[in-house]
Amino acid sequence: MTLEYINNELHMNGHALNQLAEQYGTPLFVYDEDGIRSQCRKYHSVFEQESLDYSISYASKAFTSVQMVKLLQEEDMKLDVVSRGELYTAIQAGFPASHIHFHGNNKTAEEISYALDVGIGLFVVDAMDEVALLDQLADQPVDVLLRINPGIDVNTHSYIQTGQEDSKFGLSIHNGTALEAITAIKNSRNLNFKGVHYHLGSQIDEEGPFLKALDVVFEWLSKSGIDIEILNMGGGYGVRYTEVDTRYPIEKGFANIISRLKALSAEYDIPLPHIMIEPGRSIVAEAGITLYEVGVVKDIPGVSRYVSVDGGMSDHIRTPLYGAEYEVVTVKENKNQSMNANVVGKLCESGDIVRKNAALPEDIRRGDLVAVKTTGAYHYSMASNYNQMMKPAVIFTSRDNVREIIRRQSLEQLIQNDIK
Ligand code: LLP
Repeated sequence: MTLEYINNELHMNGHALNQLAEQYGTPLFVYDEDGIRSQCRKYHSVFEQESLDYSISYASKAFTSVQMVKLLQEEDMKLDVVSRGELYTAIQAGFPASHIHFHGNNKTAEEISYALDVGIGLFVVDAMDEVALLDQLADQPVDVLLRINPGIDVNTHSYIQTGQEDSKFGLSIHNGTALEAITAIKNSRNLNFKGVHYHLGSQIDEEGPFLKALDVVFEWLSKSGIDIEILNMGGGYGVRYTEVDTRYPIEKGFANIISRLKALSAEYDIPLPHIMIEPGRSIVAEAGITLYEVGVVKDIPGVSRYVSVDGGMSDHIRTPLYGAEYEVVTVKENKNQSMNANVVGKLCESGDIVRKNAALPEDIRRGDLVAVKTTGAYHYSMASNYNQMMKPAVIFTSRDNVREIIRRQSLEQLIQNDIK
């Protein structure tokens, strides 16, 4: 991402952030559109180099909007959705339904019917009960994957681990339920069994679990005599929030994953399936920042200092929820960052923390702007109207363009569904 100080003012892609704040207001999400595109291309290039039959699906939950979906289509990406709302957003953006697949541990009948109506490409069946429900609702053949649980622990926050045996997602390959579901799919009226999917968890920075999952799954496929046309390995590739994080090494990591795939395919004599992955965070996280304006600065002598900004847990929930850490910088360059302060939001909870112990200038004060880095994933998409806060606007910047892609919510919109 091109975030740099030019004449003491922070710029993204050559655009001064103080001017964007002035024009669009704060809090404001600002994305590097070129950065999002280059992440998409990076994923394509690792698979293209290996001349594999593959597709890259973007996990909408990380951040979606009509313009985001249009960008994804331009970048030849496919799409993973988990709700009627995510699917609706994609369809409204003109995204081909045949390039979308539907995830979720509890798809409702209404969601399934909507997805069938729009002609979705693939369902990822997550439970035994869903086999019967989907079969009953479909009146023509529909392609499905089964979400399997490979029973693999990963080193990430427990709320975002999904591949361990004790999980609400998928069916275990170890206790026989995955196999039972495949048999049921094969015996169904309308479901075409295409293959399997697993997702181990999110914000994983090492290759080990991904390689182990392949070993476990290929052994199981071979032992159970299951033929698959598609193998979906999920997402979860970690990003760098602060200097202590290790970014998942996409090029090297996938070169190793692909070579393990080829080795296992030869070892078990299983033809290489179509490979799908579904990264979300690693496409958008590092391309986005949040701009806030500083309000109250409170000094509690001998105890601590609080720098309050004009947003908070309504647009920055990952710190209260997962204890996630972020880098906060001032938009006006100030090398004297000797003050240690807690950057907090304006919502009525003590847990409304943006960053504990941030290094900030001594003279930071009302009206100054700060930027929180790496907020492109799971920020806007997890934003809420708590305290009747209005969701911020979202801007895409590129070298030669700035465009607003989501307008700031208005007061009227906050009560538009209220019965008056
Ligand atoms: N595929 C499936 C089936 C998933 O459940 C997820 C994320 C992904 C793909 C994309 O994973 P990614 O590449 O973005 O790590 N709100 C949490 C993250 C929840 C992730 C849920 N599933 C956070 O802010 O960390």
